[in-house]
Amino acid sequence: MSILLAGGAGYIGSHTAVAMIDAGFDVVIADNLYNSNAAVNDRIEEITGTRPKFYECDIRDKAFVDRIFGENEIETVIHFAGLKAVGESVTMPLQYYRNNLDTTLTLLEEMEKNNVKNFVFSSSATVYGEESPYPYRETMKKGSCSNPYGWTKSMIEQILTDAAAANRDLSVVLLRYFNPIGAHESGLIGEDPMGIPNNLMPFISQVAVGKRDHLTVFGGDYDTPDGTCRRDYLHVMDLAEGHVKAAEYAASHSGTEIFNLGTGTPYSVLEIISAFERNSGVRIPYEIGERRDGDLPEFWADAAKAEQELGWRAKRGIDEMCRDSWNWQSKNPMGYRG
Ligand code: NAD
Ligand code: UD1
Repeated sequence: MSILLAGGAGYIGSHTAVAMIDAGFDVVIADNLYNSNAAVNDRIEEITGTRPKFYECDIRDKAFVDRIFGENEIETVIHFAGLKAVGESVTMPLQYYRNNLDTTLTLLEEMEKNNVKNFVFSSSATVYGEESPYPYRETMKKGSCSNPYGWTKSMIEQILTDAAAANRDLSVVLLRYFNPIGAHESGLIGEDPMGIPNNLMPFISQVAVGKRDHLTVFGGDYDTPDGTCRRDYLHVMDLAEGHVKAAEYAASHSGTEIFNLGTGTPYSVLEIISAFERNSGVRIPYEIGERRDGDLPEFWADAAKAEQELGWRAKRGIDEMCRDSWNWQSKNPMGYRG
């Protein structure tokens, strides 16, 4: 039996492929390479000794997805295939709704047709919205999102919950990620954003290798211990290992279950800068700038449910996260392109 990683050539999918292969699963990746590079398959093979089966295709293409299910004994689908740039989603909302919702609907319809029962979804802490008190718990009501990207996650959660309620054979696991950073310890795979990075750690890493001259810290006057925002950063390999547990859980349960994947400990932007400097030996020039629209002052996970029910707990700390981010970026200053 195989696992289909839809969008598996991307940042989190490629690390999950490694964790899945290490755990003994057969991995099939399907990705249109919109935000990734086919070279990732060579790197996964170099790390694990196993080359995942790879299809270059759009997950919205029903005939192609049908073919993938026809050619492989897929037991579980993990759905990473989404557009994820928050700012871009505000200017291109229709593309975000079309891509993120259609990929989900196509997978669900083709799974039903091909009798595939287990679905794990890449959701986000963003669905808790600004109304929820932190730490966020899975039992809280979802809130309102500040951008179309977040709404696609919230809507897809609803679609999957409704599909599982109507089809008792379907098992859905909704994984609400907090802030994944870091890279595989080999430095062979990592986060490789196109253009100017939106997220903190890739921006810091690009400053460190000299691609950008300084970091702008978005706001220094929040009501937090040092005035900068706090987030629950987690190592992408811990997150990847969470998917192994989630896939095993999905295969032995039915209905819909939600899990936060975070560490439960927040760090501020200034703490991240200082941890990165400590672990890379490189100074990060920065200035305090304006707040970014839509940013919340702070939030972090209550990670107890994942520990109790999945047997998963983040093992790697902030130093390892920064060290591995730097290891990847310094070995691959141009990402997969150079
Ligand atoms: P990523 O962009 O690196 O990976 C997504 C992959 O999906 C890319 O390889 C892209 O080419 C592919 N893709 C997109 N649309 C596709 C389509 N229609 N058909 C086929 N392939 C398609 O992003 P990531 O950081 O690895 O995130 C993976 C998932 O996790 C996304 O759904 C994202 O929204 C979600 N998520 C990410 C974060 C984060 O901080 N990175 C946080 C919360 C949730
Ligand atoms: C963002 C998204 C969230 C998404 C997540 C992962 C918003 C409002 N939220 O979360 O929906 O799930 O990315 O893709 O965009 N920062 C700087 N300078 C920078 C970049 C970031 O100071 O150049 C700060 C931000 O203000 C934030 C922290 O660093 O406080 C982390 O930012 P980021 O990595 O973008 O993640 P989130 O904003 O938490």
